[in-house]
Amino acid sequence: MPLQAGKPVIVLDGPAGAGKSSVGKEVARRLELPFLDTGAIYRAIALFMLRDNITPSDTSKLTERLRSFSISFADGRVLACGEDVTSAIRTPKIDREVSAYSAVPEVRGSIIDIQRQGKSEGLVAEGRDMASVIFPDADLKIFLTASPEARARRRYNERLEREGMADYDEILNLVNRRDARDSKVTPLEPAHGAIYFDTTGMRFEEVVESILEHAAKLK
Ligand code: DC
Repeated sequence: MPLQAGKPVIVLDGPAGAGKSSVGKEVARRLELPFLDTGAIYRAIALFMLRDNITPSDTSKLTERLRSFSISFADGRVLACGEDVTSAIRTPKIDREVSAYSAVPEVRGSIIDIQRQGKSEGLVAEGRDMASVIFPDADLKIFLTASPEARARRRYNERLEREGMADYDEILNLVNRRDARDSKVTPLEPAHGAIYFDTTGMRFEEVVESILEHAAKLK
């Protein structure tokens, strides 16, 4: 379906830690489009389920709790069921546990409509199934990846900056384990029509500029 001119849907797929969030946010800011961080939705769900001691295998309790789950984004903050969870969803515990929840089909199914809400107004959305499942008719599909070591290094630097300490080997281990788990849910491969970006040796600004060049061709 053709989308309104000037209101493109731009999607970034790829494995965890490839820079989808930071690159996507900057591309959105430069194009003055809303940014949809779908990983944050899965993280918020994991946070709420863990608090309520609902395990990923307890499908009936999960489904029940999901009925009253809501999420919104405002001024860079993430509000889940009205609560600001921006920091709470970025902890090592959530990093460890989130894949198990995001792998549950009922969880994935329950947030399809939430993710598509802003589509007609144009947006930049990031998440591993954006091009394949949520926005298969996106105007621009970017597959962002980087070596596990480069992705672990970025997470390490982010955590070091945020918390003053971080363990690179532990993070690399986690990246490899999450790739293995996440790839069971959605293949870590570019969707049909996606542009492949290996950002291993690229600077942040270079990645953003290249995507903006592709976006400029949409007009
Ligand atoms: O990108 P992230 O680290 O914030 O993602 C959190 C988890 O959710 C990660 O395990 C991948 C998963 N995820 C997903 O399965 N589908 C998405 N669209 C976004 C994230």
